[in-house]
Amino acid sequence: MDVESLEQSIQQDISKANSVEALEEARIRYLGRKGRITALLRNIKDVPPTERPQIGAVANRLKQLAEGLLEQKTTALRATQTASRFYTPPRDATLPAHEGARGHRHILSQTVSELKEIFFGMGYSLAPGPDVELEYYNFQALNFPDEHPSRDLQDTFYVTDDILLRTHTSPVQIRFMENNKPPLKIIAAGRVYRNETIDQSHAAEFHQIEGLYVDNNVSLADLKKDVEVFIQQLFGAKTKVRFRPHFFPFTEPSAEVDMTCFACNGAGCSVCGQVGWIEIMGAGMVHPNVFRAVGYDPEVYSGFAFGLGVDRVAMIKYGIDDIRLFLSNDFRFLEQF
Ligand code: PHE
Repeated sequence: MDVESLEQSIQQDISKANSVEALEEARIRYLGRKGRITALLRNIKDVPPTERPQIGAVANRLKQLAEGLLEQKTTALRATQTASRFYTPPRDATLPAHEGARGHRHILSQTVSELKEIFFGMGYSLAPGPDVELEYYNFQALNFPDEHPSRDLQDTFYVTDDILLRTHTSPVQIRFMENNKPPLKIIAAGRVYRNETIDQSHAAEFHQIEGLYVDNNVSLADLKKDVEVFIQQLFGAKTKVRFRPHFFPFTEPSAEVDMTCFACNGAGCSVCGQVGWIEIMGAGMVHPNVFRAVGYDPEVYSGFAFGLGVDRVAMIKYGIDDIRLFLSNDFRFLEQF
């Protein structure tokens, strides 16, 4: 028997074994029931008695060697296995990158920006105003009589007796005129609040853009022109506009503005409920009492104002049939825009 080559193969086999399974195979190969060291020990009885002690010593040494190496290797394998559970492979910089979830502006913000850009192009500039507003600016100065129904608790969110959440962007008109002299051409944009029963077409908070132009000799014709230019920029040059008489406390005369349906060009379809027209905004000539409230002389100045719902514009433009979707934070909705 070649003791040296047996010893070498024991060392090689055990050191090469890189898994628990391979190590077990090596154990069986040498120390198993039919293993080579086991055979060596078993065969001692067949060698001449004089050689037995020497062979026996060799066999025992090999057995101890194998057992020692197996134990070492088992410990080492366990350690690497534990480590591999915490192991992060090196990054492969050549792999294609993940798309990654990237946010984008909300459809209402996009719509507000679009509307603002149109008005900026027409010479309007943006005037600021608070969401939490004095009753004076929201109603009083805008010529709402004390008993006007929209002042009611049922329609308006009051913070205190004389502080409320603005129900429209019109109070910004008053704030701006108090601090500036004509000529002025401004828009106000932002969130407004009404104590509505919420349904498909009513939300308790929504968004308006409001325009105000004051100068000497501003006429209804000027109002109609700006409204028409705005609507045609938004919905296309073929869009027609009509004014229907209406009432607002802060304008006289007042009108509701309709435009021909962009989907059917006025022929009548499901978008416009077969009527061919879509209501798009409220408008009118600034009421003399509003001018008086801010210290303008109504004999010297005239002006027009108009206001529209941003949510409504987005709904019309993108065929959105439920106003509640805007605040739903539903990705299936948001990601469409
Ligand atoms: N403030 C009105 C509303 O909220 C809209 C409007 C603004 C009407 C300006 C006329 C002029 O309904």
